[in-house]
Parts: sequence; structure tokens; C-alpha cells
Amino acid sequence: MRETLKSSLEEIDKMNAIVKSLLDLARIDSRIKLPQDKIRLDEIIEERFNQTMPLARYKGVDMKVRKSEKVVVIGDILRIGQLIFNLIDNAIKYTVKGGRIEIALEQEDGWAIITVLDTGIGIAKEDIPYIFDRFYRVDKARTSGEGGVGLGLSICKEIVDAHEGRIEVKSEAGKGSIFMVYLPAATRIGELLNEIGFA
Ligand SMILES: Nc1ncnc2c1ncn2[C@@H]1O[C@H](COP(=O)(O)OP(=O)(O)OP(=O)(O)O)[C@@H](O)[C@H]1O
Ligand SMILES: [Mg+2]
Repeated sequence: MRETLKSSLEEIDKMNAIVKSLLDLARIDSRIKLPQDKIRLDEIIEERFNQTMPLARYKGVDMKVRKSEKVVVIGDILRIGQLIFNLIDNAIKYTVKGGRIEIALEQEDGWAIITVLDTGIGIAKEDIPYIFDRFYRVDKARTSGEGGVGLGLSICKEIVDAHEGRIEVKSEAGKGSIFMVYLPAATRIGELLNEIGFA
């Protein structure tokens, strides 16, 4: 419990930082100048998986990492972590007891592809075009207990855009959702893995 609270508080701090960045972004109406870290995406996913696992367990949702290839991307480690956290957070929030969440990381055609699949409540066709808008929430009554503000996915979109990637969703009301994030994978993978100390 202490660990969960601690990491929630850390998450709030990070969230504050990102909201501030978004406001800055809006003010100066230009792109964030991102740090250019070499990021081991599989490690970030594992980290965020471990962080959110207690929440999933508490909710009675079976969550696992289905596949995790070693992939390096270039960008802002904090924001990439936030992106993954937001997607997992939604998957847990919008999936009821007995449901399932599967996270995967693959590399294909120069893209790092992160997928977060859930067997949750899904999203109606007419809502899908708006879910990446700031403050948009589907059917507020339905999920009011969860207390979101409708910023998570718009932040994901900002982060993905700033990394020259894209985010896609497939969903069906009552069946579940799958979010797919495409980020440019770093080339020279072997060299990069060596450089950052991966044997
Ligand atoms: N995995 C999902 N399953 C079903 N609905 C989802 C899922 N992810 C997002 N949604 C819908 O899209 C809306 C927008 O998501 P977003 O993450 O931006 O906001 P939020 O989760 O409501 O609040 P916040 O993330 O700011 O705490 C949600 O309110 C929810 O209705
Ligand atoms: Mg959210």
C-alpha cells in the first residue's frame, strides 16, 4: 500500500510537470524541445508494468506482458514512461473484474510498436474521434467513480507527436480496446545496446 501510494504521488508530480509542459506548449505555440536520450523501451515497459500491477491485481484484472522485444528509441524517457503509464492506467480503469490486459512491444519496419489491449468496456464508434481531445471523457456518469479529468490520452498524443510517431486505436463498445503506439526505432541497434551497457 505504501509503495502504491508512493508511486501514485510520484505519478502526480510527473503529471503536474507534463500539464505544465502542455500549458507552456499552448502558450508558446511551438514544439517541446525534447531531450534526446537513448531509451530501452522494453525496460520502461517493465518498469511501468511493475508500477501498475498492484492496481490491476486489486481490481481483479489479469495483466501481463505478452511480448517484449529489445527496442531502443530516442527521446524523453520521462514522457515515454508517462505515455505508457497513461495507456495502462486507462486499460485498468476501463476494464472490470475478471477482464484481461495484454501489453506487447515489437519492432517492425523501423518502428517500435507498443500495444495495450484490454477486454474492458470499449469505446463507441461515435466517441473514438474525440478521445484524444483535451478534457474529453465518454459518458461521464459511467466512469465518474474513476475520477479522471480527460487529459491522459491528449497527453499521449502530444508525446507521440513530439517523438514523430503516431497513436491508433481499435475499439468496440462492450468488447474492449487496443491502443497501438508507433515510435521511430533507433537504427544501429547493436551499437546502441552496447553503448548503453546492454551485453
Ligand atoms: N482502454 C479504454 N477503454 C475504454 N474507454 C477508454 C479507454 N481509454 C480511454 N477511454 C475513454 O476515453 C476517454 C479519454 O481518456 P483519457 O485517458 O484522456 O481521460 P480519462 O482516463 O478520463 O482521465 P485522465 O486520464 O485524465 O485521468 C476516457 O474518459 C474513456 O471514456
Ligand atoms: Mg486516462
